Amino acid sequence: MSDDHIIIFDTTLRDGEQSPGASMTKAEKIRIARMLEMMKVDVIEAGFPIASPGDFDAVRAIADIVKDSTICGLSRALDPDIERCAEALKGANSGRIHTFIATSPIHMKNKLNMEPEKVLEQAVRAVTKARNYTDDVEFSCEDAGRSEFEFLCRIIEAAINAGATTINIPDTVGYQIPHVFGDIVGNLIREIPNSDKAVFSVHCHNDLGLAVGNSLAAVMQGARQVECTINGLGERAGNASLEEIVMALRTRKDVFNIESGIDARHIVPTSRIVSSITGFPVQPNKAIVGANAFAHESGIHQDGVLKHRETYEIMRAQDVGWADNSIVLGKHSGRNAFRSRLADLNINLKTEEELNAAFSRFKDLADRKHDIFDEDLQMLVLQTRAGNEEAKYKLMASHVCSETGETPMATVTLKADGKEVKAEASGSGPVDAVFSAIKKATGETPALQLYSVNAITSGTDAQGEVTVRLEQEGRLIHGHGAHTDIVIASAKSYIDALNKLVSKQQRAHPQHDGV
Ligand code: KIV
Ligand code: ZN
Repeated sequence: MSDDHIIIFDTTLRDGEQSPGASMTKAEKIRIARMLEMMKVDVIEAGFPIASPGDFDAVRAIADIVKDSTICGLSRALDPDIERCAEALKGANSGRIHTFIATSPIHMKNKLNMEPEKVLEQAVRAVTKARNYTDDVEFSCEDAGRSEFEFLCRIIEAAINAGATTINIPDTVGYQIPHVFGDIVGNLIREIPNSDKAVFSVHCHNDLGLAVGNSLAAVMQGARQVECTINGLGERAGNASLEEIVMALRTRKDVFNIESGIDARHIVPTSRIVSSITGFPVQPNKAIVGANAFAHESGIHQDGVLKHRETYEIMRAQDVGWADNSIVLGKHSGRNAFRSRLADLNINLKTEEELNAAFSRFKDLADRKHDIFDEDLQMLVLQTRAGNEEAKYKLMASHVCSETGETPMATVTLKADGKEVKAEASGSGPVDAVFSAIKKATGETPALQLYSVNAITSGTDAQGEVTVRLEQEGRLIHGHGAHTDIVIASAKSYIDALNKLVSKQQRAHPQHDGV
C-alpha cells in the first residue's frame, strides 16, 4: 500500500446500523453495499455475524455479491465470534476479519472484569486464530481514546507479531481532541517497533462533534485507513462522516497530499438511499450532502458565484453527485430511454421482471407528474425492489375526506394474505385517519415513533417521501412510501413498516440480539 493512498473503510452497515432505529433488512443492506462498491469504497464492514442470524445472513450475502471491495465482518476476541465471521466471509473475493477487545482501564475493569495481561493474551489468541482464515486481519483496541499509552504500545506490538495487518485506534466514546488524538496516533506509529508491518487506522465517534477533525488529525500523523459512515450515521452522535473525510482530503490535497480511490459522484445518491432506508433525515445544512450545502441565498453570495464560482464555492456540486435537476424523462419516454437513464445512474436491474415492474411504476408516476427527475427514478427503483419482497399486506385503495370544520375520515381497502379487508376511521388529520383505518383493518397496533415527509424534488407536483418508525414489543421498524399524494405515500410507508414487523425480517437491535 503506497503511503499516499488512504483506505476508506465504511462501517455504515455495522456501526451505522448500530444506532437505535437504524436497523436494515438484508435486501436494504445489499442495496447500500452495492452503492458503496460503486463508490469504490476499499473496505465495507458488512456486519457483526455472531450478533444474530440476520446479521450473519446479510454479511454472507454481501460477501457473495460484492466483489470489488474487501468485505469485513466484526468479531469480539472470542473463538465462536471469529469462526462465525470466517464462515460468513467464505464467499468473499477479499475478506477481512476485524476483531476487537477493550483496552482502557475503565472498560477492562468494569466491562470485561479482566487484568490487562489477560486482555493482551486474549487479543493475541484472537488475532492468531483469525489469521488461520484470512491474511487480512484487523485488530481494534476498543476505547483506545481513553487507554494508557504504554499498554496500547504493548498490545499493538503483540497483535502485529501475531499477524494483525491493520491496527485500528478507535475513539469509542468520542472523547478526543484533534491535536491530542493526532499525537497519540503519531507517537504509536513512531514508538511501536513493528508498526511498519501494519496499516494504522482510526475510528472516531462524534460525541463532541470532533469525529472528522480527530480522524484528519490522525491522517496528518500517519494513519492510512479511516473508518467512517455515510451521513455520519452511528451510535449516539454518530461516526466520522465518509463524505466529509473524502471531500476534505480531496479539497485540501495541498495539506494532506493523499488520495482516496473514492468516486465522489456517488456520494449524494448513496446519502439519500441511506437516509431513506434508515429514516434518519439529513439536516439541510449538513456539509456535502445537506440540501443547502451548495445553495446560495444571500444576494452578495449569489452575485459572487455567478461572476466566478470559486468566490464562494470550494467544491463543485456535481462532483459529489448533486444532479443538475435536468429533466430526464417524461410521459412519452419509452422503455429504452428508461433503461438507458437507469444505466447512466449506475442502477442495474438484474432481471427483466424487475425492469418491467420499475417501468410500469414509472409510467404510473409519469401520468401524475410531468417531469421525472433522477431522484424520482432512484426512489422508484428502491420501491420496486422493496415491493418484490413477499408482503402480507397490500394497499388496494384509500379514500380520504378532509374539510374545514369537519373531522377527517379515511377508508382503506387492503389485501391481507390475499383477502380483501376494508376499514373506516376518523383522525385528527387525514394522515392520522388513514393510519387508524389501517390499524383497524389489520388489527396491528404498533406505536408510531416517527413520521417524516420530504419532497424528493422541487415543485408542488413533487413526490413526497414518507418515512415512519413503528415500535412493537421493543422492535423498531422503518417503513417508506413515495407518491405525489402524501396521504397515499403515508399509507404506503405505514404498510411497508407493518409488513416488516410481521415478516420479522428486521431485528430489534442488530448488534445485541445474539451476543
Ligand atoms: O467504536 C468502537 O470502538 C467500535 C469498535 C468495535 C471498532 O465500533
Ligand atoms: Zn464504533
